[in-house]
Amino acid sequence: MEGLNLMDITILVVTLLCFLVLCRIFHRKPYPPGPRGWPLIGIMLKMDQLTHRGLANLADKYGGFLHFRVGSIHMMVVSTPDAAREVLKVQDNIFSNRPSTVAIRYLTYGQSDMAFAHYGSFWKQMRTLCIMKLFSKKRSESWDSVRIEIDQFIRSISINAGVDVNIGEMIYGLTHDIVYRAAFGSTSSEEKEEFIKIMQDFSHLFGAFNIVDFLPFLRWLDPQGFKTKLPKARDGLDRYIDKIIDEHIQKTKMKEQNNNGSDMVDELLAFYNEKANLNRSGNQHESINLTRENIKAIIMDVMFGGTETVAGVIEWAMAELLCKPDELRRVQQELTDVVGLNREVEEQDFEKLTYLKCALKETLRLHPPVPLLFHENANATQVLGYHVPAKTRIMINLWAIGRDKSSWVDPDTFKPSRFLVDNAPTGYKDSNFEFIPFGSGRRSCPGMQLGLYTAELALARLLHCFSWELPGGLKPSELDMSDTFGLAAPRATRLVAIPKPRLHCSVY
Ligand code: HEM
Repeated sequence: MEGLNLMDITILVVTLLCFLVLCRIFHRKPYPPGPRGWPLIGIMLKMDQLTHRGLANLADKYGGFLHFRVGSIHMMVVSTPDAAREVLKVQDNIFSNRPSTVAIRYLTYGQSDMAFAHYGSFWKQMRTLCIMKLFSKKRSESWDSVRIEIDQFIRSISINAGVDVNIGEMIYGLTHDIVYRAAFGSTSSEEKEEFIKIMQDFSHLFGAFNIVDFLPFLRWLDPQGFKTKLPKARDGLDRYIDKIIDEHIQKTKMKEQNNNGSDMVDELLAFYNEKANLNRSGNQHESINLTRENIKAIIMDVMFGGTETVAGVIEWAMAELLCKPDELRRVQQELTDVVGLNREVEEQDFEKLTYLKCALKETLRLHPPVPLLFHENANATQVLGYHVPAKTRIMINLWAIGRDKSSWVDPDTFKPSRFLVDNAPTGYKDSNFEFIPFGSGRRSCPGMQLGLYTAELALARLLHCFSWELPGGLKPSELDMSDTFGLAAPRATRLVAIPKPRLHCSVY
């Protein structure tokens, strides 16, 4: 040892380190199979193919758990129930983070909301608060908003009986009105239009490709101008909601609140503390304090979570039933048998409307409103024998899982009766993972009950109150059933149909 100088020791240590790193690399399990991309950019040039359909095609080629890189980011796609179980159940604790982008971080005030926050005590507090104070059945105002707006919606359709109605457009208007009323307590149309415009700007920016997300060293150049676009969009939201929050604070001070009932902003303001730094490091048992930013970010979660999703499933269900007249007749006959034609359908009837529920499930199987779930793993791990580095972006393709050939017979066909057979999934979660339209595990949908209630009531009323025909002599087989890709997977064209009154009583 006497002969060793500093240089020798350095060389020895560096060699040892290289040896350890190489050992690690060669002993590490491989990544799952997948398309190989270019050095540095990975498969960035094929980004437009990373939709639920494009990823399902890749799964056909490479398997139910596949890997590729886009820029510096590892991405893995889950397309089978087995792989989904591994990620959402067996290793749910590792895979419960959300990946973020420059746009997400900026527009959610640094992930101050629930939907985009990483898994941890901050997220747990937000989730408990939202479930108890906003989505729970005990908070009857949210459920009241659904009933009030569906009544109004059915009245507007009956005014147009016998003529072509853009029912798709009307359904999207309905879910906006429901969530808007639940959140802000009114549906003043002028203000609502302004808010919908803000949501569209947000939605566009959330979904837009930003090269900086994948090649972060380009952030100083900002080649696509996001540094200007993002503040502009968030300023619009600030101006809009700050005014509403101030009005609510004023209203509370004047003690008018009790006369008007409470909306979601009122509920959240009960936890408002401008100086709060919402227990980010968080002790779960501390009392919850919300800042204005938290309140704004949560309201946006509710708006995004509760509008397109619910509207999508109602419109798709109507379209699928109009394509299959026999199925439509069967659902309507059940409504006639259970409810009759002399009164309107009510919540108490739901438990007997078995086939209507099957039609809704079948719609959610074929057209999950959130076709791709985005998760991220906190630590490196293994899935199905493959290596998954920390912070991999995991996409769970619910659209592909709902059409998995080994789980479903004749998977592309709309057949509600498949949910009547003995071994069919009974609920919406944790079955054999072949049917999880609301996700599963820690990050699964907290608005499921409210969403299902809205979809069931709206669909039951539409099919009970009216018979439906396609316009211009269009045959059911000619109806356009293509979808588009965004945060949700809505129909490519809005559904137009002709309603005719069906009840012996008036719906006015
Ligand atoms: C048919 C209706 C709906 C469907 C199919 C649906 C589906 C989903 C899915 C698949 C997820 C993601 C699960 C995951 O990443 O693992 C989700 C999350 C979420 N949904 Fe829903 N949803 C619906 C209605 C609603 C409603 C009505 C609300 C609120 C009013 C809502 C609020 C949310 C929120 C806030 C999250 C994020 C939860 C978190 O990250 O912790 N959803 N939903």
